[in-house]
Amino acid sequence: MPNISSNLAGIRSPNPFWLASAPPTNSGYQVMKAFDAGWGGAVWKTLGVPIINTSSRYGAINYRSSRMVGFNNIELITDRTLADNLREIEEVKKYFPEHAVIASLMVESRAEWHQIVKDVENAGADGVELNFGCPHGMCERGMGSAVGQEPSVLETITRWVKEVAKVPVIVKLTPNITDITEPAAAAARGGADAISLINTIQSLMGVDLDTFVPTPMVDGKSTNGGYCGPAVKPIALNMVKNCAQDPDVRIPISGIGGIENWRDAVEHMLLGASNVQVCTAVMHYGFGIIREMIPGLENFMREKGFEKLDDFIGKALPNVKTWENLNLKYKVIADISAEKCIGCQLCYTACEDGAHQAIALPKNGNRVPEIIEGNCVGCNLCSLVCPVEECITMVRKDDGKKHESWKDYMAADKAPTTFNDDRAGGKGHWVPEPAAALKR
Ligand SMILES: Cc1cc2nc3c(=O)[nH]c(=O)nc-3n(C[C@H](O)[C@H](O)[C@H](O)COP(=O)(O)O)c2cc1C
Ligand code: SF4
Ligand code: SF4
Repeated sequence: MPNISSNLAGIRSPNPFWLASAPPTNSGYQVMKAFDAGWGGAVWKTLGVPIINTSSRYGAINYRSSRMVGFNNIELITDRTLADNLREIEEVKKYFPEHAVIASLMVESRAEWHQIVKDVENAGADGVELNFGCPHGMCERGMGSAVGQEPSVLETITRWVKEVAKVPVIVKLTPNITDITEPAAAAARGGADAISLINTIQSLMGVDLDTFVPTPMVDGKSTNGGYCGPAVKPIALNMVKNCAQDPDVRIPISGIGGIENWRDAVEHMLLGASNVQVCTAVMHYGFGIIREMIPGLENFMREKGFEKLDDFIGKALPNVKTWENLNLKYKVIADISAEKCIGCQLCYTACEDGAHQAIALPKNGNRVPEIIEGNCVGCNLCSLVCPVEECITMVRKDDGKKHESWKDYMAADKAPTTFNDDRAGGKGHWVPEPAAALKR
């Protein structure tokens, strides 16, 4: 049986699945229920001077038959008193000493940071997470993402916390910034033991076409909120990868964003996250999703021959390069399986109007389109559009012997440098004459 026990910067938990700081970690009752269901750790709903929330406060993007593909909130930090939260942290730790309880914190002054760190340590917290990520409400008060967007301020506050903290300090980053590695490196400079990312992405969910009020609506008005859920996973993965590859960061990463199942979690870990945190999926489906995540991870590890998490953490990183290093001699083209094709011809429309006019409609009365090999640039679009799994596959056409990247082209003076350069990649590629569009 693979060993899935986790260690993030010295914080141990029975598995790498933690609840992110959010409504599911609002109370001891919820955290106990989650641990009982199998979660390995929980980052408590952010503690600070308690706030007053709005009603309503959530919005969602439903896409076709899928609900909450993207989720948004304008909720602030805890609205419960510190005393209540500390008492419940202490109680949870008594029942679950082996599980990780992390106190997420957000206060203002150095004295307040010092005090609250001591308070949560006394309550038994295994670590603290500094919430420099919240992109709504709290940032208007100079906290949350207002700190995360100012690397020097983030570094200073991290130092304040490290002056007193005896437990590991995680800095939670905001994605609402041009280059995530800057605050990540600032956290490392400030002495953080780990970083976690991403917090939510600033967003406006949509506008009611009758009332002209965006959602979520609060008495006829709205405000920007934070976006999360499955839709944000690609953004989170890219930021986790950027931090994991940056030589100025080099501290463990807790991956957050769009994780709904063990596969999503493994993807975060392959790109460098030591463990993961989950929010929206639990808000949608409940704590029970952990019952599929643990055996899913164990099966994956067994199948691949991994004995412990470290065997695969970061394993995808060597496969992510800058564009200039990709092999321009690698060639694939689309191939349609006549047996699987249902003749919907969505691929034809996509390639004809949105790509390279490389799919022809059949003339023989059947509905299976044909790839015009000479025109296909191997962009993938038709295979992504096709509703039948494995019906359009991308088939390799080069012999695999040559590797030439943009970098090589530049070095060998083979890259186009003028507007009408004959060395342009599309030179000689067949495209219909403009007027042909009107004759169809
Ligand atoms: C309703 C709601 C409240 C949240 N509150 C907090 C919070 O108090 N502190 C915090 O650090 N992050 C908070 N988050 C952000 C989550 O911890 C997490 O970073 C984000 O939702 C991305 O993960 P997900 O895609 O799994 O939801 C909140 C998210 C939601 C949806
Ligand atoms: S999209 Fe797929 S199923 Fe539809 S016609 Fe093209 S190949 Fe066939
Ligand atoms: S891979 Fe791109 S260019 Fe080739 S047939 Fe499909 S959509 Fe057209």
